[in-house]
Amino acid sequence: MECTAVILAAGEGTRMKSADPKVIHPILGKPMVQYAIDAALPVTDQQPILVVGHQGDQVMNLVGEQVRYVHQEEQLGTAHALQQAQDLLGESDLILVTNADMPLIRAETLGELIETQRNHRGPFTMLTVEFDDPRGFGRVVRDDGGHVQAIIEEADASPEQLAIKELNAGVYCFQAAWAWKHIPEIELSPQGEYYLTDLVGIAVTHDQEVKTVPAEDPAELIGVNNRLHLAEATKTLQERVNRRWMLEGVTMMDPETTYIESEVSIGRDAVILPNTHLQGNTAVGRGSTVGPDAVVKDSQIGDRCQIRASTVEDAVVEDEVDIGPYSHLRRGAHIGRGVHIGNYGEVKEATLGEGTKMGHFCYIGNAQIGKMVNIGAGTITCNYDGVEKHHTKIGDGVFLGSDTMLVAPVELGEGARTGAGAVVTKDVPPYSLAVGVPARVIKKIPPETEDRSD
Ligand code: UD1
Ligand code: CA
Repeated sequence: MECTAVILAAGEGTRMKSADPKVIHPILGKPMVQYAIDAALPVTDQQPILVVGHQGDQVMNLVGEQVRYVHQEEQLGTAHALQQAQDLLGESDLILVTNADMPLIRAETLGELIETQRNHRGPFTMLTVEFDDPRGFGRVVRDDGGHVQAIIEEADASPEQLAIKELNAGVYCFQAAWAWKHIPEIELSPQGEYYLTDLVGIAVTHDQEVKTVPAEDPAELIGVNNRLHLAEATKTLQERVNRRWMLEGVTMMDPETTYIESEVSIGRDAVILPNTHLQGNTAVGRGSTVGPDAVVKDSQIGDRCQIRASTVEDAVVEDEVDIGPYSHLRRGAHIGRGVHIGNYGEVKEATLGEGTKMGHFCYIGNAQIGKMVNIGAGTITCNYDGVEKHHTKIGDGVFLGSDTMLVAPVELGEGARTGAGAVVTKDVPPYSLAVGVPARVIKKIPPETEDRSD
């Protein structure tokens, strides 16, 4: 029995008070709707269908081709929303209906719902949940024998019904052919909507049993309607992700202030210190320590590195590198093995070769720096002339005196040295010392007398 997911996302989400549609608000770096898609994909057989309406174009632009789309022009209720997908659903035997504003639901839970419906002779199975605060959810009404009779929306419920603790999670699995046959029986509610939940009462009218699957963890069914719920959902997801990494062998000193996005991977014996954000497509190698106060985004960090109080974006950092505090690796930074970058260093579109040291206050942009280079405090690549960026090339073993200005394009050969405050406007040959403003070569340095102390 094939099952296809229909994810409802046409509602306006007014309570978010946002210029953007509710379902694209990010949670730990991923749009809310993506969680619903990711939960449905592994347990269904065809590409999911997303029902969009309010600001649908924005949702479609973001979500792209992972799903198929249908438009619900007017938000006339959840049953009406599902009906928009009828043509696309084609031959599917079972339909899973879920909501785009439930980012915490897990694939396992959806899978259990689908399995229950597969083994059920009746047409309809629903997920139920109990909360102390009913959060506006529909109430599950049962008869004396415990059989489900109906779902009553909060707005339409009597005082006795309002006291019912068992709630409709808003997630269902049912037989498609049966639903298409009976949806036309749904009447307009007092609120002016066609409720999908009315299918429950309709099944009962036709002497068919409705099954329920109680949610194991109520937190999964938290719907996000406002920014308080958004923060709650973020906390829960954060706990879930951190727990997984800790069980995989990652140490976290303070999981509450550790924010790890879903695409991140972390090697064993890594230590993540407080106030650290690992974002996007980031990998942290084995035994590396990141934090406190670090942000690493879309970057690869090797093994046994130390990244302290620094920001690393779109960068590659090889093994045994030590960075920070207060440094910034930007797009295209490639830091070789064993490099030391101390405080207030910035690297962009540049390679630093193995063992190079850059201790204090530097900017290296559009550059290729060789191995074992000593970059003196305050060294800057003057890479931009106001119109274009220019390249700097520094050979292996170069020693740059404090406050060297490298006016690009410029190249320093292997083993070259500059004096403090040199403004280098012309290439410096290998094993030569250049000093002054503008710098000129004053002598050759025999390679063996090189001094590479910090
Ligand atoms: C719905 C259920 C309620 C359940 C609750 C759980 C109905 C009538 N009620 O209520 O029993 O306890 O979910 O969260 O289904 N949507 C559309 N088009 C529409 C209306 C809604 O796409 O015309 C989408 C919304 O974007 C949302 C989902 O359907 O993703 C649920 O709609 P919402 O208005 O939030 O229903 P609830 O009041 O939460
Ligand atoms: Ca809702």
